[in-house]
Amino acid sequence: MLGKFIKTAQAAVIIAALITCCQVSAAKSPDPELLAEGKRLYLGAGSCVACHMADGKGQIGSIPPLAGSEWLKDNDRSIAISLRGLAGPIKVNGKRYYSAMPPQLMFDDTKLAAILTYVNHAWGNDHGVIQPKQVADARAKLPIDVYTPEKILKAFPFKGKSEAKRNGTYKLDFDDTLTEVTEPVVYRTFMPGASPAAFAVALPGNHYYCWDAGECRLRYVWTKGGFIRGNKVHWSSNGKPVAEFNGVPYYRAKSSLLKPEHYQHLAEVERDVPFYDTSEASDFPITIAGIDSPPSYLGYRLVDHYPLFRYRLGDHEIHETIRVTEAKNGITRSFTISPPVAMTLQLTPNETAQLTSTTGTITPNGTLQLSAEQSASFSVTITDITPPSPTTSTGGVK
Ligand code: HEC
Repeated sequence: MLGKFIKTAQAAVIIAALITCCQVSAAKSPDPELLAEGKRLYLGAGSCVACHMADGKGQIGSIPPLAGSEWLKDNDRSIAISLRGLAGPIKVNGKRYYSAMPPQLMFDDTKLAAILTYVNHAWGNDHGVIQPKQVADARAKLPIDVYTPEKILKAFPFKGKSEAKRNGTYKLDFDDTLTEVTEPVVYRTFMPGASPAAFAVALPGNHYYCWDAGECRLRYVWTKGGFIRGNKVHWSSNGKPVAEFNGVPYYRAKSSLLKPEHYQHLAEVERDVPFYDTSEASDFPITIAGIDSPPSYLGYRLVDHYPLFRYRLGDHEIHETIRVTEAKNGITRSFTISPPVAMTLQLTPNETAQLTSTTGTITPNGTLQLSAEQSASFSVTITDITPPSPTTSTGGVK
């Protein structure tokens, strides 16, 4: 019923928008109701706000801003990026980014038009109204692949010379590989051996991890081999870009849908790996008696520059944040569970990592059982004990 009401209200808003602003495009600001609807959708869970933030400023070093972005000057380009995504090195108003934006497919034409119209008028932007029909046409005719910077710029080039200089793409060179990490760097990108909703995070002290938001779980941790490379985008068999990854994980969480050979690919340099659709995985590492439903991802925030991942299992909200150990020889995963509850965390022991916890005892097969009281706040440390030998990955996952 509410859905129907919203639809009708939206239709009214759109009609009002059509009447008020279509004769002269972008001449005046659009109907306030259309803007309010666009704002509501922009701020919705999992929407643009998750990355570009409520103030439209993006996130330093990883997500470009929409506030003041010159990319928005071409509405067809904004529609194309929203519908197909964009991955690769880009410049926005003179600043460099290298990340990936997944296609925003949860919005229909009317909703996406409202969001983009809001974006076009928020934070001092002034780029006109976008009609649902423009979105519908683009959805029907754009090529389906995620855009590379080259392709989007070829299809929708920047007009002015100075604008084209400040915006566009750039060639990554070796310097763009992170050598010394001084504060956490969060990349939202397609990672090998993870669902499409993966994060790659570099921590000060040069330990790196892949955290899978699609499944609310840590996938693997590494330090050898460096962070993901910016100078090459690999294409998976699904036509999605996968970050170049040369790392050798010292810890890999076991998952029913990931076989040891999948991990083998992780350490291969020149390869064209698919990323694995693990959405059907059933072996969530945290179990609470009586809860069978899969976890749901609530988003992440940066606390003191460190991502804090939030997810829910039944009625329990779990927070997880990961830092490098003081000795810089591994990582510590800190959890809070609220309301606290008796639970089990399943880790994956192997010969290259030592597992310890602040509360309870981790069994030899990696199980940590905690009482409700203990679960409120606890940490698990994963220490890299890879022997310093020149041999490559030993495939520790059984
Ligand atoms: C999961 C994170 C994420 C979400 C959600 C997201 N974006 Fe993006 N967006 C990015 C990243 C990362 C880039 C830069 C991609 C690159 O580096 O190649 C980007 C780039 C852009 C750009 C071009 C560069 C700029 O700053 O102007 C536009 C326009 C844009 N996004 C609009 C949107 C809109 C509108 C939505 C919601 C409908 C949205 N994005 C949702 C992450 C996201």
